[in-house]
Amino acid sequence: MHHMRSEGRNAGVEIGPEANKGISFPRLYDLLLLMLTRGRDRAYREDLLDLGGLAPGFQLLDVGCGTGTQAIAAWHRVQPGGSVVGVDVSERMLAAARRKAGRAGLDIAFHHADAADLPFEDGHFDVVTFTTVLHMVPEARRSLCLREAARVLAPGGRLLLIDYAGPVSGRGHMSAKHGLHGQFDLHRLREPLAAAGFERIEGGPLDWLGLHFLRGIRV
Ligand SMILES: C[S@@+](CC[C@H](N)C(=O)[O-])C[C@H]1O[C@@H](n2cnc3c(N)ncnc32)[C@H](O)[C@@H]1O
Repeated sequence: MHHMRSEGRNAGVEIGPEANKGISFPRLYDLLLLMLTRGRDRAYREDLLDLGGLAPGFQLLDVGCGTGTQAIAAWHRVQPGGSVVGVDVSERMLAAARRKAGRAGLDIAFHHADAADLPFEDGHFDVVTFTTVLHMVPEARRSLCLREAARVLAPGGRLLLIDYAGPVSGRGHMSAKHGLHGQFDLHRLREPLAAAGFERIEGGPLDWLGLHFLRGIRV
């Protein structure tokens, strides 16, 4: 199924205390997002997906899929013929995602996996997305995640990262300053992205929650 393999390239990577367990409050998470987007969560998702360059027939992987909202929105863009897979480290988020996709009658597979060790074959996906995930990943593991994304993407495939960026003093939105969000700067991943095998790297601010995007094409 979905060209899965039992172990990713980084199978030896220990999911120890330095790895994170993810988010465990799916209902509250969806509610928070609805509040932060002022009830416009759908428009938020569509704007993010516009940056993904999705097309019918594409294979999409959403890493750190959470409650599946974006995977579900994306599914419609890759039809006919495409597929969407979501992975997350939190079983509770995955359970919520499966329920949501089930209610929508959509065939989207949600798997338990760490971004640093993806259980998929090389070169399988056309697009990989990380929406507000990398700020949760400990700094030392971020390059590993980018290399895994490069591995599972086909040459010419696109990686789209959405997260917080820029000097904290210049961040207008409260969400962009808070906790791990405030400590993270997406644009610092430009060099690691190039080192992981991406080119045509570009990024910039979004109109949502003080977020930025950074994307690149797999060489
Ligand atoms: C802020 S939420 C974003 C969820 C979803 N992408 C969205 O846009 O609504 C971050 C998600 O990343 C997951 N996560 C954190 N670290 C991860 C990792 N190393 N691998 C996979 N998922 C991870 C969390 O469990 C959580 O569901």
